[in-house]
Amino acid sequence: MNQAYIDQAVNHYKELLLSQVARAERMNQVEAPKEKGKTVIGVIGGDGIGPIITLQAQRALEVLLKNEIAAGTIEIRTIEGLTIENRLAVNKPIPDDVLSAVKECDVLLKGPTTTPSGGTMESANVAMRRELDLYANIRPVQVPEEGIDWTFFRENTEGEYTLGSKGIELPGLLTMDFKVTTVAGTRRIAKAAFEFAKKNGKTHVSIVTKSNIMKKTDGMFSAICHEVAAEYPDIQVDEYFIDIMSANLLKPALRKTFQVIVLPNLYGDIITDEAAQIQGGVGTAGSANAGDRYAMFEAIHGSAPRMIARGMGDYANPESILRAAVMLLRHIGLPAHAQRLDDAITQAAAQHPITGTKEGNTCAGFGDDLISLL
Ligand code: IPM
Ligand code: MG
Repeated sequence: MNQAYIDQAVNHYKELLLSQVARAERMNQVEAPKEKGKTVIGVIGGDGIGPIITLQAQRALEVLLKNEIAAGTIEIRTIEGLTIENRLAVNKPIPDDVLSAVKECDVLLKGPTTTPSGGTMESANVAMRRELDLYANIRPVQVPEEGIDWTFFRENTEGEYTLGSKGIELPGLLTMDFKVTTVAGTRRIAKAAFEFAKKNGKTHVSIVTKSNIMKKTDGMFSAICHEVAAEYPDIQVDEYFIDIMSANLLKPALRKTFQVIVLPNLYGDIITDEAAQIQGGVGTAGSANAGDRYAMFEAIHGSAPRMIARGMGDYANPESILRAAVMLLRHIGLPAHAQRLDDAITQAAAQHPITGTKEGNTCAGFGDDLISLL
């Protein structure tokens, strides 16, 4: 291999390392949450089926929140422009004007965005999580008839994602990506998981890693989670490797014992799709991305380009984004509205379900049913 390539890669690595040192040091300075009378909810359509499903969630929010909106304590603001076309045109994962509009909001409801695989264009989601420091990805999964009530706390800004678009390539020879785990980044997700458990009467937290193989990063993740666990003596803690945990989620007797699961970014990404499938499909699960200042709520599925290509966009299921809206309402301190919306979604889905085919309800039809139930 040409020495020049190797030198270039070493320099690149040095820059990455220094950028991560700076990030880790910044994380120790906690920003105070913004104080404000009014809560601004930004609604971002995204790509593919995103604008179709998000529109129905926005309609539901407008109906539910009409008193708060009239009183001026809540504003719902549509944010345009977070589309793959615009992102490619400016070659940025979030165009500058979109990012500044987003930062004027407090919470966001976001439709899925398309991420080109390969190349260097970073995912809009990943960029948003980083820009707004949304370090906790909270994904609830419930199957009441089977006694399943899980809440995943996926670390959302580190691991394989931090430098996922900044790997090294020695052409024709090898490629390297990096996984980064910081002490502060791990401590805050562990804290979030245990605090959630404590506040919600949960008695069991599972730590999930692959620390037998990823010795440094997952090894530290595990050690810090145990350190935090020691501050919660009433909570039972266990630990599994990600591979066996994926199997455990399919074991009926064992799986109902899990309550809160805390895990690094990539494992959390993968296992929450599996968990959502157990609940009825990735179309049914909502997801919160929370930091100390901002929070973003989204569907856990993607923008479904194949569905759009088949001309079936109008039959997309808004359930996941609607469940995300439920989480948003809880997050801004409106649990009664959240419950009303949650019950209405369940009822609308039972009355006239969406099947993703022309035999089922349309997305707009589902929205109409929902509004008549609210
Ligand atoms: C998710 C998605 C994202 C992720 C993609 C869209 C970047 O799969 O929210 O789970 O990998 O985190
Ligand atoms: Mg995912």
